[in-house]
Amino acid sequence: MTRDLRMRWLTPALALLLAVSLSACNHFTPNTIFGAHSEFGHSVDLLTRRLLYLGILVFILVEGLLVVILMKFRDREGNREAQQIHGNTTLEVGWTLVPAVILAFIAVPTIKTIFETQSKAMPNALQVEVIGHQWWWEFRYPQYGVITANELYLPVGRTANFALTTKDVLHSFWIPQLNGKRDLISNHTNYIWFTPDSSFAWNGFCAEFCGTSHANMRFKVFTVTPAEFDAWVAHQKTNAVGSTPPAPPADSAKGGTPPVTKVATSVGTTTPAGANPKPPVATPVMNVSDTASATYPRSKLPEWVIPKTPTPVALTFDASASGDAARGAAIFRAAPCIACHTIRGVPTAQGILAPNLTHVGSRTTIAGGLYPNDMKHLELWIKNAPAMKPGSLMPLFGKNEKGDTPGFYTDQQIADLAAYLSSLK
Ligand code: CUA
Repeated sequence: MTRDLRMRWLTPALALLLAVSLSACNHFTPNTIFGAHSEFGHSVDLLTRRLLYLGILVFILVEGLLVVILMKFRDREGNREAQQIHGNTTLEVGWTLVPAVILAFIAVPTIKTIFETQSKAMPNALQVEVIGHQWWWEFRYPQYGVITANELYLPVGRTANFALTTKDVLHSFWIPQLNGKRDLISNHTNYIWFTPDSSFAWNGFCAEFCGTSHANMRFKVFTVTPAEFDAWVAHQKTNAVGSTPPAPPADSAKGGTPPVTKVATSVGTTTPAGANPKPPVATPVMNVSDTASATYPRSKLPEWVIPKTPTPVALTFDASASGDAARGAAIFRAAPCIACHTIRGVPTAQGILAPNLTHVGSRTTIAGGLYPNDMKHLELWIKNAPAMKPGSLMPLFGKNEKGDTPGFYTDQQIADLAAYLSSLK
């Protein structure tokens, strides 16, 4: 290949490589670490860029010098033999001092950033307790008495201070565009704080290997205006739809008209007002017309917020089973679900091992951010959670499903349960 021909290929190839690399850094890539949206992110970003550019400079200088020397002093016909020397004090002092200076350039901003990002949050910050579980996230807002799972709401412009602990193994709290990673360790509370600078929906991840479904331990962060945050808090503090505050616990299991029925009917936000408590099986719980809940506007949800995880091929569901929220509520109150899940306002459901389901219908995802929160995925999840998420501590409940424990609910009962859960906006 001639030199000209080589150059003809090299230039477009380099341009393509550059274009591909740059496209990976653009702002619309939801999981990029570049383009920070909090002061914490900016500190880390500044440091990263400074080190990156410094590294590039050093690389160009060293490699450039190497190439020049190789070309200039390469062996030629008739060259005399190179002078054989031992040591050069000036050079040796030079190549000891220069790296020391470079290290100082790295160390000073690094230590400054460490002190900045490890300092205590301001006292009036929003306090959020983050508790890691295999494999989901519990979020508690002690100032407001709100407990939720897998979806964080944060007001823009207010510093949020996170107290990080774990119920089992190591996890790591990471929202690529808002903060650096910080570990959740047992018997020790770690802290991290940041102030979101804009309203958006962000992806969050567990960034420390924590077992079979580590990669399925995700969460969403919705940064909203302070007014929207207040509305969200007020809504989250309410009891679950269909529950009555002084609910008599015993009257419902035998059917009849449990109090839940009336209120559940009024909540069908995906159906015409008050018409029908049964959401059609095919209709997702969450859709753009869902404006009833104080949640991040569904119409503004970026497309990538809704996961596209494939469901197990062998796991099927009877599509003709149309769920009834009132029947589902009656099943739920006596189901094993209540041993692990809390639904505020349902006296029998006070479990704390699994996500709080009080407003589960208002969330965008289920199963630790793994699946979209719609009827299909709720039903499959209840039917056989371990098949949907490897290692899931939630047992299977579908009749005739094969697993460690026997299941006992028919597809119809599961459809009713799913209809009830999705009514909990
Ligand atoms: Cu939790 Cu990885």
